[in-house]
Amino acid sequence: PLVSLRTVLDHAAEHQYGVPAFNVNNLEQIHAILQAADATQSPVILQASSGARKYAGEMFVKHLIEAAVASYPKLPVVMHQDHGTSLAVCMSAVNLGFSSVMMDGSLKEDGKTPADYHYNVTVTREVVQLAHQKGVSVEGELGCLGSLETGMGEEEDGVGANRKLSHDEMLTDPEQARQFVEATGVDALAIAIGTSHGAYKFTRPPTGEVLAIERIKAIHEAIPHTHLVMHGSSSVPQELLSEVREFGGDIKPTWGVPVAEIQRAIKYGVRKINIDTDLRLAMTGAIRKHLMTNPADFDPRAYLKPAIAAMRAVCEARYQEFGAAGMA
Ligand code: G3H
Ligand code: 13P
Ligand code: ZN
Repeated sequence: PLVSLRTVLDHAAEHQYGVPAFNVNNLEQIHAILQAADATQSPVILQASSGARKYAGEMFVKHLIEAAVASYPKLPVVMHQDHGTSLAVCMSAVNLGFSSVMMDGSLKEDGKTPADYHYNVTVTREVVQLAHQKGVSVEGELGCLGSLETGMGEEEDGVGANRKLSHDEMLTDPEQARQFVEATGVDALAIAIGTSHGAYKFTRPPTGEVLAIERIKAIHEAIPHTHLVMHGSSSVPQELLSEVREFGGDIKPTWGVPVAEIQRAIKYGVRKINIDTDLRLAMTGAIRKHLMTNPADFDPRAYLKPAIAAMRAVCEARYQEFGAAGMA
């Protein structure tokens, strides 16, 4: 059934596991995720960004996700708005039937300019008041998402502060998180703990800690009843990069967040783990491979089937690795 984010993450907290939240834009991604969840009996979070709603058309996004819910009636499925940039965007998602929305008030309405704390609290509180009346969960964001390595906020997608920030400045402050949760009543909070969006997270193979684990512990202690969310959680598997490159793609050397680091983050309180890039890489690698090795094929189903299989493999791995398998 369609369930709220609160329902899924309360269960995850009770049983100490993490739930991957995969971004969706089309039918093939949704099939891949649901096939993986069904095979592993895992709870499902499908999230659509504003870009996804624009790309597919919001009615298509809504009905594709509702088709997933109807096709797998036993699996809990969350329909989540990713990175809502205003009250209007969040409420349009609520009115469409989403069971969860993210109000990203860390940025202004343009989705680019960093916003101040007061704006963030005010707009997020408004979204919570309206969404909760309809049983819809709300995720907020506090802190500057970006790479600790470069000190740049959201460097790859060009969003966020372009100013170089110190290590500490970029991380979510536990005391401010406590105040934010008290003032807004959010169900879940996206925190800045060293990740950034996109494929280009780290310029060297990560050795040792890449996440600010001590900070995760401190935030979790400060807001034990609010579920922690980690954005920018793709692991950027080197074998997916190799396949894209082998079949004509051009991707610069790059590394993501190691699965072992995510597992540590889950141990200390992270419950929702956002993944988009890894499925993009899997899909692109599989399509490139199929088209290069079968140049006479032109039926889209011929290359989209292996694309679904490649994405499904990533999803199954994450459900297992995060401890969500068997929890549906
Ligand atoms: O946080 C961003 C997600 O990866 C979605 O990306 O805005 O290009 O759909 P998008
Ligand atoms: P990645 O780019 O690491 O996959 O992160 C996606 C994300 O955080 C969506 O909100
Ligand atoms: Zn994100």
